[in-house]
Amino acid sequence: MTLPHHAFFRGRVVPYSEARVGVMTHGLNYGTGVFAGLRGYWNDEEQELFVFRPREHFRRFLESARLLRMELPYSEEHLASALNELLRTELYREDCYIRPLAFYADETIGVRLHGLTPEVSIVAFPYGSYVSNEEGVHAMVSSWRRVDDNAIPARGKIAGSYVNSALAKADAVAAGFDEAIVLNQDGHVSEASAANLFLVKNGVAVTAPTTDNILEGITRRTVADLLRRELGLTVAERRIDRSEIYLADEAFFCGTGIQIAAVTRVDHRPIGSGRMGPTVSALRKLYFDVVRGRVAAYRTWCSPVYAGDKDFALPLPDRAEEQASEPARNPGLRLAR
Ligand SMILES: Cc1ncc(COP(=O)(O)O)c(C=O)c1O
Repeated sequence: MTLPHHAFFRGRVVPYSEARVGVMTHGLNYGTGVFAGLRGYWNDEEQELFVFRPREHFRRFLESARLLRMELPYSEEHLASALNELLRTELYREDCYIRPLAFYADETIGVRLHGLTPEVSIVAFPYGSYVSNEEGVHAMVSSWRRVDDNAIPARGKIAGSYVNSALAKADAVAAGFDEAIVLNQDGHVSEASAANLFLVKNGVAVTAPTTDNILEGITRRTVADLLRRELGLTVAERRIDRSEIYLADEAFFCGTGIQIAAVTRVDHRPIGSGRMGPTVSALRKLYFDVVRGRVAAYRTWCSPVYAGDKDFALPLPDRAEEQASEPARNPGLRLAR
């Protein structure tokens, strides 16, 4: 993995080497942080980098922060503006992954959420595929159960709860699988370690409801819209039994990281034909066109980084004064590094 050159940290874009925290940091010790994961997609024809659905990601990020009682000094717009500034500094002309993080930054001992000060960082780095075989994932049903809403709310992207995901993923890989499917305490299907799951059977796509301890994926929502509107499927959000997976015609994981990956075997059983099926194949093609800004109807989901200066108009709260005295930005940012 290539490290970033810069980070948005303490309200400004700084060299990555300056974005450091001490080992006593609360978020590092107790997992009291929340994060987001976005992707930037390079569109070569337009020489443009498109960030996919940044507002939705930042909305969920701020909601996750609220679950941890964090009062962040940023709105969705401020975060989108900070991200744009960061990406324009990095000048990526390739696909990248974006990681916003809010964490309790106090260097102090004591498990709590009160009386602490959060900080926000954002980094972006070049990134390709999350799994090597997006066209044929072999998953296992994990023996680890999903964290429950009354333990650590899974609808928040809370750093500490990813230990649950890491346990499931690591054991799946150690057992020779690519990914884990995690069940709730009552045995119903929740999701994968870092992705949502869809099954397709008889022209109906089903995915677990938001009350089954899933992270409400932006890709899940995107995919549900595309399946309904463009591929003519019925999409149902309902509880899923484990054995429904084994008998599905097709199955796939979706998420910003994994994008859309065909699940072709689960627990050594073939799903449908045991190969990527027609729905997942069509959906993948459509999705990759959509995220790169190539489908006019969904263009509003893609936020251009280099075109237009309007996203820059909003100064960040603690940088307003500093920016007022800065010279106009270099209009030549489009040029390669
Ligand atoms: C546990 C979990 N579920 C689902 C997802 C998919 O969410 P999104 O589509 O918003 O990336 C993620 C993404 O990282 C995740 O960590």
